[in-house]
Amino acid sequence: MTVGAWLAEQDVEVEHFVADIGQTGPMTAAQTAEWLTGEGHKAHLIDLRGEMADMALDLAACQATYGAGYWNTTSASRYVLVSGMAQMLRSAGCGVLAHGCVGGGNDQARFSRYAAALTPDVEVLIPWTQPFLLERFPDRASMGAYLAERNYPAEVTSAAGYSIDANLAGASHESNELESLATPPTAATPLMTVWPVDGADTPELMSVRFAAGRPVQIQGQPVSSLEALTLANAAGRRHGISLRSVVENRVNGTKCRCVYESPGMDVLGTCVSALMQVCLDKPATALMREISDAVSTAVYEGRVLETTHVGAASAAKQITAALNGLVEIELYKGNVTVRSFADLEERPEAARQTRFRHGGHHWEIG
Ligand code: ARG
Repeated sequence: MTVGAWLAEQDVEVEHFVADIGQTGPMTAAQTAEWLTGEGHKAHLIDLRGEMADMALDLAACQATYGAGYWNTTSASRYVLVSGMAQMLRSAGCGVLAHGCVGGGNDQARFSRYAAALTPDVEVLIPWTQPFLLERFPDRASMGAYLAERNYPAEVTSAAGYSIDANLAGASHESNELESLATPPTAATPLMTVWPVDGADTPELMSVRFAAGRPVQIQGQPVSSLEALTLANAAGRRHGISLRSVVENRVNGTKCRCVYESPGMDVLGTCVSALMQVCLDKPATALMREISDAVSTAVYEGRVLETTHVGAASAAKQITAALNGLVEIELYKGNVTVRSFADLEERPEAARQTRFRHGGHHWEIG
């Protein structure tokens, strides 16, 4: 946005695309688009929250966390953004796609791969690698100062001075002091949840009904993907769910250390994991583990349009079709505890090896 606004001042013809992917931040997508328009820029507001929720719940259904347990929320959003805007970029006649990602390398690779596949005629401009832009904006503070001069109505740099990326599925805090192994994760200020110690003092019960690995009812009420993730996020926030620090291997082989939060993904993902334990037989469980890994790597690397991912995702769909039933969980001080199951559907494959004695106390090996 900053770069776009500055380029427009240099007589470059710029169109701003502001997507609502459910991000928590100092301003909503609508407010950002409104500010841009007020400043005389051409801005398009696009609602991609449903797409973001669908993709996030696909990841939950596959248990596709990356590395030591990151729900891949940033990388998922890169696919949602480019695929959701491709048509608009084309109709607006844009020849260049500029994004404002930090220079770690992951997002550059993701945006470039998706743009190459979905908008092949559009060149990708990576501001953080352009000397002329680095000269104008050498750091975050210079961008903040630029926006402040233009009456940007919110604080643009976090007090900690690190980078935050957020959407409906999660938020990531990275760079500067947060990358240092000497910094405790509590140096980050949570956006979507709270630290467990600040969670509610009373546990909360929640029931989620799943059909084919997707949440379809919460507390007995039918829900869309967007509603399910929104409700799960709110419940997770009340109970300090999901903050964690992860050191992961980037696309380019370097390491990065981030603080992640994804309350709704943890709440719903824990239910899916429990359903998998109950509904999948031993070979399906083993295969699913490999598929989860393939899916999470493809999402992380920005390769969801490639054949291996399409194949893995379709296999996952077949296996997760067995995940049907009601899961009751308890949320308390950072923990999601599975209490009970109901309405499980026996499937022939699962029944081959294990048969559940409904109402009984144990499993019968068949
Ligand atoms: N390391 C994470 C990823 O590559 C997050 C990157 C973006 N986060 C940020 N705060 N800029 O998916």
